[in-house]
Amino acid sequence: MSISVLVGSQWGDEGKGKIVDILSSRFDIVARYQGGANAGHTIQIDDKQYILHLIPSGILREDVECIIGNGVVIDPKALLDEIFFLKQKGIETSGRLFISQNAHLIMPYHKLLDSIHENSEQKIGTTGRGIGPCYIDKYARKGIRIIDLLNKHELEKKIRMNIEEKNNLLRKLYNHEELDVDQIINEYLEFDEAIDPYVKDIPSYLNTAIGNGKKILMEGAQGALLDVDHGTYPFVTSSNPVAGGACVGMGLSPTKITSVIGIVKAYTTRVGYGPFPTELTDETGEALRQIGAEYGATTGRPRRCGWFDAFLVNYSRMINGIERAAITKLDVLSSFENIKVCVGYEYQGKKLKTFPTADFILNNVQPVYEVLPGWKADISHITSYDDLPLETKDYLSFISIACGFEISIISVGPKRNQTIEL
Ligand code: GDP
Ligand code: IMO
Ligand code: MG
Repeated sequence: MSISVLVGSQWGDEGKGKIVDILSSRFDIVARYQGGANAGHTIQIDDKQYILHLIPSGILREDVECIIGNGVVIDPKALLDEIFFLKQKGIETSGRLFISQNAHLIMPYHKLLDSIHENSEQKIGTTGRGIGPCYIDKYARKGIRIIDLLNKHELEKKIRMNIEEKNNLLRKLYNHEELDVDQIINEYLEFDEAIDPYVKDIPSYLNTAIGNGKKILMEGAQGALLDVDHGTYPFVTSSNPVAGGACVGMGLSPTKITSVIGIVKAYTTRVGYGPFPTELTDETGEALRQIGAEYGATTGRPRRCGWFDAFLVNYSRMINGIERAAITKLDVLSSFENIKVCVGYEYQGKKLKTFPTADFILNNVQPVYEVLPGWKADISHITSYDDLPLETKDYLSFISIACGFEISIISVGPKRNQTIEL
């Protein structure tokens, strides 16, 4: 049995899309379990670049089936646009993409409220895709689900009820103009026909597939430090990217999961606000951004960059149960004379024993660094571990020991062939 969960180990954008694409040739099904179109997973095949937001990154392998689980929040327009985008590139989704009937729908008022919240006192720096407000409605038990699209009467009733409440809020609290309920109902009624063929009872489908010996790869979006429970709250997303989220977001027993693979960027990035102890706001940070092309795949925003934080990734290893890791973007470090790795934090003069997730602590810690020699050589063409410079191998062993996992994949460029497997 092979049921693996692939998780981002930092603050997202670790290169999950590339690694899912590489690994998916060995799996029958690739399944997304949380998040929504806030994700931007990039896959580069030869000169073609694909950025996927909702559809699992396994879709580019034609014999792989893809699933969007109940834990994902789906913007139907974003989904249909993505299906259309793939079709134009010659990739067929019908018959191989299945969507959980229990997944919640992102509604226009979720996106509007996301932008209104971002203009208030507490700024998170969200992607503006309506993610937080949609999960709020889900947990308030007011949400509208994919299955509701299949029942016109129920759909209309639920949209009317929700919009009445949201219009009240918009008018009274935010002094904002009201939403046109009929227009939204008509728009969502149209999604029904387009989405109907993809809808499935995913827990039954997935567990039957597992019973038949199918191999499944669960694709996490975002990263562990953006997890609403285990991340740097409140500067997080509103779902559970951690490996445990795969069970809830898919209808799968924890006993079925056979391995957890962590995707680990060779340095650190984050988009949006929130603490970032190893952030570099100087020319070294700018160099990482330029060399690593660190601009958001969803919003185009410049990503904040900093040195590798082994203290943080070790915490991520613990909460996810990462046994094996893929180290990505190692080529980006090739021009540096020395490379720093954070091995711990000092807070109020004392070394912390465990990773703090409270922002008022994280904002005031001093990272403790080890300095490693750089390799100052282009490694982006190397396909065998043995051919890597000694300093690169030392950097990798340092990370492996400091974080407590084995490294099984090394990525030295965005393309499929720029990958070293151990
Ligand atoms: P994801 O959200 O985790 O899938 O990551 P993103 O797609 O948002 O960001 C990763 C970016 O780095 C994309 O532009 C990838 O094409 C690129 N990338 C992935 N792996 C490597 C690598 O090993 N080296 C370099 N230079 N770029 C990479
Ligand atoms: P992938 O899957 C990086 C960040 C946003 C913001 C916070 C909350 O490509 O790694 P949200 O829109 O989710 O309410 O925003 O989370 N964020 C990401 N950062 N990669 C992502 O996805 C992200 N998805 C959300 O920038 O700080
Ligand atoms: Mg991304």
